[in-house]
Amino acid sequence: MEKYEKLEKVGEGTYGKVYKAQDKATGQVVALKKTRLEMDDEGIPPTALREISLLRLLSSSLYVVRLLAVEQATKGGGAGGGGKPVLYLVFEFLDTDLKKFVDAYRRGPAPKPLPTQVSFLYQLCKGIAHCHGHGVLHRDLKPQNLLVDKEKMILKIADLGLSRAFTVPMKSYTHEIVTLWYRAPEVLLGATHYSTSVDIWSIGCIFAEMVRKQALFPGDSELQQLLHIFKLLGTPTEEDWPGVTALRDWHEFPQWKAQRLTRAVPTLEPEGIDLLSKMLQFDPANRISAKAALEHPYFNSLDKSQF
Ligand SMILES: Nc1ncnc2c1ncn2[C@@H]1O[C@H](COP(=O)(O)OP(=O)(O)O)[C@@H](O)[C@H]1O
Ligand SMILES: [Mg+2]
Repeated sequence: MEKYEKLEKVGEGTYGKVYKAQDKATGQVVALKKTRLEMDDEGIPPTALREISLLRLLSSSLYVVRLLAVEQATKGGGAGGGGKPVLYLVFEFLDTDLKKFVDAYRRGPAPKPLPTQVSFLYQLCKGIAHCHGHGVLHRDLKPQNLLVDKEKMILKIADLGLSRAFTVPMKSYTHEIVTLWYRAPEVLLGATHYSTSVDIWSIGCIFAEMVRKQALFPGDSELQQLLHIFKLLGTPTEEDWPGVTALRDWHEFPQWKAQRLTRAVPTLEPEGIDLLSKMLQFDPANRISAKAALEHPYFNSLDKSQF
């Protein structure tokens, strides 16, 4: 870790702080993120190695934050040794995240940055299509986990937590990882088997939030979160979502009828409403895939050759 000079703290991670740092040899500015992966006497456990190589593979996409290196350091123990070895992930550094970016244009007198929204949504779908194509789901997509290169206007997916690959048994999936506002209804209702469609739901919520400049479903408990969703999209029935009433946490809910999506995102044009409604389908099987979303007419205005 002497190779890097820590500059400032840029984020408070779940497992430690994220630092902006500089590679002393090359001058490159990087982000250092501590992991919860601890080494044992044998070195790095094989499961951790597999996860790191997966992360490397995923970061081959321009729309996924690039993993530059993995470094080990010794935590505690001082000069006398005896400290615990910990792993740090070294990522390319990006100047902001989508939450800060949207906050800035919400406050400023800036004109509606429509082309940017369309482009960011496209890049997000592209990055997620890449992850899903490699059998990895993100499970915690939210504006804070999307980094933005303001100069090049590139959006990159970050915080692809380790231990979220399909190869990890479902049992180790904890429900706590995903922030409530972007959490898919099947997760909120206690489904044990869920898939790539959970990320599409999150993308739908992020899409709406970029347009509204305000969260779509800002619930502060699991129940409130479901009620927010049901109030807009209608309380789901067995007809629109076969199997919903058999989910673990299903119970009787107030019966709401679906509202028009345009009420929630009045400035969004019809093509955008159509794409959003395909992302916010109750039945995960009916939700559009990231790959199919890339072909949606909403993106026709983009010059796709630049991606
Ligand atoms: N590569 C990076 N460049 C710049 N800032 C970053 C980078 N990675 C993370 N951050 C900042 O640190 C925060 C926490 O990092 P993240 O990887 O999301 O950790 P956590 O698992 O704790 O959520 C992010 O929301 C972002 O603001
Ligand atoms: Mg995060």
